[in-house]
Formats: sequence, structure tokens, C-alpha cells
Amino acid sequence: MPEQSLYQLLGGENGVRALVDRFYDLMDTSPEAKDIRALHAASLKQSREKLFLFLTGWSGGPQLYVEKFGHPRLRMRHKSFTIGERERDQWLWCMSHALDAGKFDTAVADHLKSRFAEIADFLRNQKGDS
Ligand code: HEM
Repeated sequence: MPEQSLYQLLGGENGVRALVDRFYDLMDTSPEAKDIRALHAASLKQSREKLFLFLTGWSGGPQLYVEKFGHPRLRMRHKSFTIGERERDQWLWCMSHALDAGKFDTAVADHLKSRFAEIADFLRNQKGDS
């Protein structure tokens, strides 16, 4: 990838915030994501904040999540949710559409999609469909 950090390419704080908001708006309103929406609390406020803090540090910005909550240990923090291929694909569907709506450079969006696909599959804790 180019020398700019992903954080800069995403548009810094405002860009990451906007991406996370689009992601959760899609999850909240799309039948395509209904199973993973059901795993979340009625209010998505805390989820939005945590994903914003995490993606900021993960993309090369300030380590906001780590400062607040310590090491992300994402697999451990997702253990209590049933995540099979269906849930993984629903999460990636939301993220892919949120990225596409962001008017990022295609190479940047493609790079992010493949990185997210790796993480989402790593978080799967069920074989096949749950
Ligand atoms: C594979 C499908 C996934 C499902 C079904 C899923 C579901 C969930 C749920 C239900 C929560 C708890 C609600 C909350 O506190 O926010 C959560 C938390 C979280 N997820 Fe995911 N997630 C998935 C993938 C991912 C991926 C790929 C990432 C990172 C790129 C991610 C990052 C996070 C973070 C940072 C939290 C907050 C953890 C905490 O501090 O408790 N998730 N996820």
C-alpha cells in the first residue's frame, strides 16, 4: 500500500467515524444483516463507539481502543456470539457496502475488504453455517 497510513486514506477521525456509522446503519436496516443485528443490543451506540476506537488504532491512527480497554483480543471478545459463515458473510456484506459508499480509491477499498475478510473469518467460532 502507499506510504500514507490507512487511517489517513480513510479520512482520519471523520472518515473512520463516517465508515462506522454507515456500517451500523446498514446493519440496523438491512434484511441481509438481520442475524448479526440480532446479536447486538437494541442500541448500537456502544458498538459504534467501540468499532470507531478499534478501527482508529488498527488503521494506524491513535491507539484509542487499547488506551481504554487494553489489548483488543478480538477472538476472545467475540466468543460469546455464535459466528458461522452466515454471520461472517453478513458482517462483510455491511462493511463492503459501507466502503463502497465511501468513495475511496478502489485499491484502498479492495485492500480493506480483504483485510476485513481475514479478520472476520478468524473470528468464526462455528464450522460452516451456524
Ligand atoms: C465475523 C462477524 C462478526 C460478528 C457477528 C460480530 C459481532 C459482534 C458483536 C455482537 C459485538 C458486541 C457488541 C458490541 O459491544 O459492540 C461485537 C463487538 C466488537 N466487534 Fe465484532 N463481529 C464480527 C466481526 C468483527 C470484525 C471483523 C471486527 C474488526 C475488524 C470486529 C470488531 C469488534 C470490536 C472492536 C468489538 C468491541 C469489543 C469489545 O470491546 O467488547 N468485529 N462484535
